Amino acid sequence: MSTAPEADLAERDYFSDHSVLLEPYEYFEALRANGPVYRLKNRNLVIITGFEEGVEVLLDADRFSSSIAAVGPVAPLPFVPEGDDISDQIEAAHDPNSPTALMVNYDGDRHVAARSLLTSLFTPSRLRANENFMESYAQRIVGEVVAQGGCELIKDIAAPYVTLVIADLLGVPDEDQEEFRKVIDAGPPSGNIDDSETTQASPTLLFMGAYFTRYIQERRENPRDDVLTELAMSKYPDGSLAPLLEVVKSAMFLFAAGQDTSAKLLGNAIRFLAENPELQANLRDDLSQVPAFIEEMMRLEGSVKATFRLTKKTTTLGGVDLPAGQPVVIAISAGNRDARRWESPAEFQIGRPKIKEHTGFGRGAHTCLGAPLARAEVRVLLEQFLKQTSRISLNEAQHGPVGDRQLSYEPSYIIRGLNDLYVDLAKA
Ligand code: HEM
Repeated sequence: MSTAPEADLAERDYFSDHSVLLEPYEYFEALRANGPVYRLKNRNLVIITGFEEGVEVLLDADRFSSSIAAVGPVAPLPFVPEGDDISDQIEAAHDPNSPTALMVNYDGDRHVAARSLLTSLFTPSRLRANENFMESYAQRIVGEVVAQGGCELIKDIAAPYVTLVIADLLGVPDEDQEEFRKVIDAGPPSGNIDDSETTQASPTLLFMGAYFTRYIQERRENPRDDVLTELAMSKYPDGSLAPLLEVVKSAMFLFAAGQDTSAKLLGNAIRFLAENPELQANLRDDLSQVPAFIEEMMRLEGSVKATFRLTKKTTTLGGVDLPAGQPVVIAISAGNRDARRWESPAEFQIGRPKIKEHTGFGRGAHTCLGAPLARAEVRVLLEQFLKQTSRISLNEAQHGPVGDRQLSYEPSYIIRGLNDLYVDLAKA
């Protein structure tokens, strides 16, 4: 669905209108003009554009449930909310066999238990080994596209790179990795604005679920000295062995959570560098600034635009009354451009004080588990591009000249990222 340009920006439908995709920031500013917490007129939804208010929600799991984080705020609830406290209704609706019952939408103890299953993957020694894989793989694939003089960054580099980094973390056998990449590449985006009311698991998740069920089952029967065995034997904090299904879902969720998010951040960051030759040259001269660059990109153009919560209890937020059972949208990329928190928020400024307070990786109990990995993989790939090139620029035949760029964004109400990014690469 497209909308006439004169239509009031704040009245456009964030969940189906393709025109909002190109400039979500303008749309969020139009909402913010009505206050940091705004009740939409066209849907039963409240959108939070304020930084403080967004953080308040993310930190308060007592009032705000994560139970809709995976399916989004537009899909119908599995029950009709009744009364001022729907905690019991949320709990009763929990179905561990549902393919969308994933750690990101668990609350309380169930969430702590699910998250604990993945801790063996995120130890410093495991992350170091994973970073060695990133270094050698990034060096090779960047070398190949630099030798070619250019590439389509998302498909040729970012997508395979981030997939194989997670596969390496999880210890997916080499012979299966190519198949994983193909299926993930072919899958629909998460938060697809052309299908925002679905409650179905994506075919990609189902495919990975089948593989991981086999891996985990095999390792439980015949333990080996590998990462998948460690995962298969994961125990809950009380020492009990986790049910097979829960281990499988946690493992496959890493792909869902860490694939598109990282690939699109890479795209956003490289587009920004290509458009800012001076910044590019400065970073090339001083690679130690790359982490600061990544944080500012996360704030200014992070790859997750929004996440979602459901009020458990009747409450008030930013002066707006919220009944129990109210779906709320935390517009992360709006909070990260809130002028009450960030000076000149639409400007890129490397080295902002307390930059890591941005909410690009969320906040609170569900803070991105893969944030250290995401930061490392983006840094390693950017370093390789900066080291191996003397200039990165956008391909004008594909994207048009400076001042009249043609860019297309993924049709997602969650992800902010380019569908494709053609770059010309001059060898160092
Ligand atoms: C630039 C890349 C990434 C971004 C912007 C990002 C962003 C986020 C955000 C905003 C959340 C919080 C969702 C919520 O509270 O509702 C989250 C959660 C999560 N992320 Fe990431 N993420 C990225 C990469 C990754 C990677 C690479 C992995 C794994 C390898 C990963 C694994 C997870 C997991 C498991 C959760 C759920 C945590 C929980 O529910 O306790 N993410 N991510």
